[in-house]
Amino acid sequence: MGATEPGRNRSRLTHRARYALRHPERVPAHARRAARDALLRLRYRGDHIAYYRAVMASDTARSAEAAVGHTPSRETWARIGRMQFDYLVAHGLRPHHRMLEIGCGNLRAGRLFIGHLDTGNYYGIDISPHILLAAQDTLVREGLQAKLPHLTLAADLTLAFLPEGHFDVVHAHSVFSHSPRHVIEECFAHVGRVLAPGGFFDFTFDRTEGEEHQVLREDFYYRTETLIGLAARYGLSARLMDDWERLPHRQSKIRVTAMSDRARTVGP
Ligand SMILES: C[S@@+](CC[C@H](N)C(=O)[O-])C[C@H]1O[C@@H](n2cnc3c(N)ncnc32)[C@H](O)[C@@H]1O
Repeated sequence: MGATEPGRNRSRLTHRARYALRHPERVPAHARRAARDALLRLRYRGDHIAYYRAVMASDTARSAEAAVGHTPSRETWARIGRMQFDYLVAHGLRPHHRMLEIGCGNLRAGRLFIGHLDTGNYYGIDISPHILLAAQDTLVREGLQAKLPHLTLAADLTLAFLPEGHFDVVHAHSVFSHSPRHVIEECFAHVGRVLAPGGFFDFTFDRTEGEEHQVLREDFYYRTETLIGLAARYGLSARLMDDWERLPHRQSKIRVTAMSDRARTVGP
């Protein structure tokens, strides 16, 4: 399935009017988000992380499940977590790997990664203290305490407090879909330092084949080439994961590796 309607610009007035006519029941919720956006934009002018942290605080107060995935249904929450997990295991995640999950949320997939990995090998970071508390609830509910996962609040994506060459797998699901370009660029500039030799970084994004755009400060749509080009600037080789496109999920997925690794495996 992958990106739905990848040529569409959702920020256009005509799109929004047509959408409202097709889904009148969604108009009040969107109006609420738009009003919140106006308020938070004023309060956190130019500081996207503070802005989005406030969005998460407000969404988590309603429902932690909805805060990470638009729907409060526990079934959908579990299904999307399972989809991430099954895909990553099929694409190389092994119990001895050390994994960093950026934007771990309330462990929708993290609970499965933690169960699969050897004790202490999961490291989740998030900008939202509220969702990290909800993540602790998930750990308790799932009885995963003995796996000793790390859950840490992060102020940015410089990853400066993490060790060099440590993580075999870095994963970020539905994080760059909420991130302006400078946040993604910051991540690309620093993720190579924490990747172990041969390691990889998988992330999802909202893909457009038309004009890049955003809806409020919450949802960002990028072209694949933009992200591949941006990664290359930081010595990272990136490719679209074609088989992810067949899954019932509206985002696309890119895998990033260090270019120096490719040189090592392909050889001169
Ligand atoms: C849509 S939720 C997805 C959570 C989780 N990855 C999942 O699939 O359930 C996005 C999460 O990323 C976090 N987040 C957003 N921007 C971030 C950033 N720049 N650094 C770390 N976490 C971020 C949010 O607080 C939120 O918990």
